[in-house]
Amino acid sequence: MDDSIGTGSRQEIVTAFERDYTASPVDQRSRAAFRTPAVGHLLIVALTLIGHSDFGSLLAADRIELVVDASKSGAKIDRNIFGQFAEHLGRGIYEGLWVGPDSTISNTRGIRNDVVGALRALKVPNVRWPGGCFADEYHWRKGIGAAGQRTATLNPNWGGVVEPNTFGTHEFMDFIEQIGSRAYLSVNVGSGTPQEAAEWLEYLTTAQPTTLAKERAANGHQTPYKIPYLGIGNESWDCGGNMTPEYYLSQLKVYSRFVRNFHPEQQSDNRMLKIAVGPGGGGTRWTEWTEAIMKAWQGHQWSWDIDGLSLHNYTVVRWPASYASVGFGEKEYSEILKSTLEMNQLIATHSAIMDKYDPQKQIALVVDEWGAWYGPLPGSNPGFLVQQNSLRDAILAALNLNIFARHSDRVRMANIAQMLNVLQAMIMTDKEKMVLTPTYHVFRMYVPFQDATFVPVTFNAGTYTHGSITLPRVDAIAARDGAGILWVAATNVDPAQPVEIAVRLPGISPRSAAGETLTAPAVDSVNTFDRPNTVVPKPVTARVLGDQLTLTLEPKSVTVISIRE
Ligand code: AHR
Repeated sequence: MDDSIGTGSRQEIVTAFERDYTASPVDQRSRAAFRTPAVGHLLIVALTLIGHSDFGSLLAADRIELVVDASKSGAKIDRNIFGQFAEHLGRGIYEGLWVGPDSTISNTRGIRNDVVGALRALKVPNVRWPGGCFADEYHWRKGIGAAGQRTATLNPNWGGVVEPNTFGTHEFMDFIEQIGSRAYLSVNVGSGTPQEAAEWLEYLTTAQPTTLAKERAANGHQTPYKIPYLGIGNESWDCGGNMTPEYYLSQLKVYSRFVRNFHPEQQSDNRMLKIAVGPGGGGTRWTEWTEAIMKAWQGHQWSWDIDGLSLHNYTVVRWPASYASVGFGEKEYSEILKSTLEMNQLIATHSAIMDKYDPQKQIALVVDEWGAWYGPLPGSNPGFLVQQNSLRDAILAALNLNIFARHSDRVRMANIAQMLNVLQAMIMTDKEKMVLTPTYHVFRMYVPFQDATFVPVTFNAGTYTHGSITLPRVDAIAARDGAGILWVAATNVDPAQPVEIAVRLPGISPRSAAGETLTAPAVDSVNTFDRPNTVVPKPVTARVLGDQLTLTLEPKSVTVISIRE
């Protein structure tokens, strides 16, 4: 282990996750897994992945029929579910996106141009920053002012390394602007004060000539910044202060009241959405947490309010995270995918509680930390959470995005952990080199689903079995984008067998359908700096016959097609 990791901080990481993940609904997989989306129509997502009740009859199936009923529509798939998370952790910020203005690596005001270019293609809707556990020890004033005069502090959560604070408020907002995204700030509830957080928001957002606004201008930004999303604490039940729901609620009310956004254009329609700390699993501890917050919200007075409740859920199988991110076989492939599908029941569990107190679905469930968490790569600093990203992660990402889309009436925001060089990253960097991960490619392929309208798909998923694990073989979602184009995303989980899908489109006369498919030679295939194109999408075209398309899904693949009518 790297000497810079004290046992204290390592222990902290472990204990933070010895919580209730194992008690989360691993074994409670429901056969009525998907609720019907509430917006206007009764949507039948029949025989869905997890709820399918006739696996046996399809064991040998190599052709699966999907019925896309484009005459029906569901909720909007909020583009915010494709949000990302950039914490001061390992090489996520420093070296990942920030190299400093004097670097020989091509940059704009210190921010890597190659990373910005790659992220722009993802149309990243929002970025959560500065943490994570880091947020509850972050003091924003240390990250403003002349670069050479910033206070260096420590990052006890993540490796105990020095935090130079050279990437602070202005640098983050510059980054957000460069990639064309929006800011989701997490304020420090654990070790900060409401006053500190309130002053940060005044500094950022007021257009009035206050002393803080003048300081912002002196630091290079005359006009106020827009802050659309505010997280009030992070995992306050654990690394954020180990609070009880009651104690957190008292904090939440105070922060919600006093941490104000003063931006003149955010006083009505575009007002800042406040997101409370929510559950981190599915066991009693977590359902009680959700109950407490939602019950309080239902009876809340004018002086405080929230717009979202967060949910954190990593695919890890067991803590401490020890599954290998590369060099694994089908056993680990199937185990991880089985585990990731638990996201569906977790969302259903907490949505049901939210429905009790908020039947109008005013409060969004914000899955602002999700993704695969594996053991650290050999030789890496364990506090830096460095892992590889394989084809398995691409499939895992697609399955989760599909789950969020099906729950889009309640899940209106999500943030994969994390953006760069940490956990299930989009992008990895090594000095001047950059590589796009398989997960990146899935996010790029799914861009058309951002703000598209969910369209119900009925299908019999079939099964894929390995050892004692049986999973739905195919998953699919469909949506209509703002231009009226119909999109279908389909995943074949089976690592060995291709499957032909017949997409029936009653009432539609498709003229053609084409798109991209992502697969690779092995479930653990990765892109490396030397071989960056092992897992990259390639074009695919469907065959059209009447109101039906047929398409062969390669083994272990994710495919997205658009349909021309
Ligand atoms: O993403 C890594 C860590 O996981 C975050 O800092 C924390 O919120 C979560 O426990």
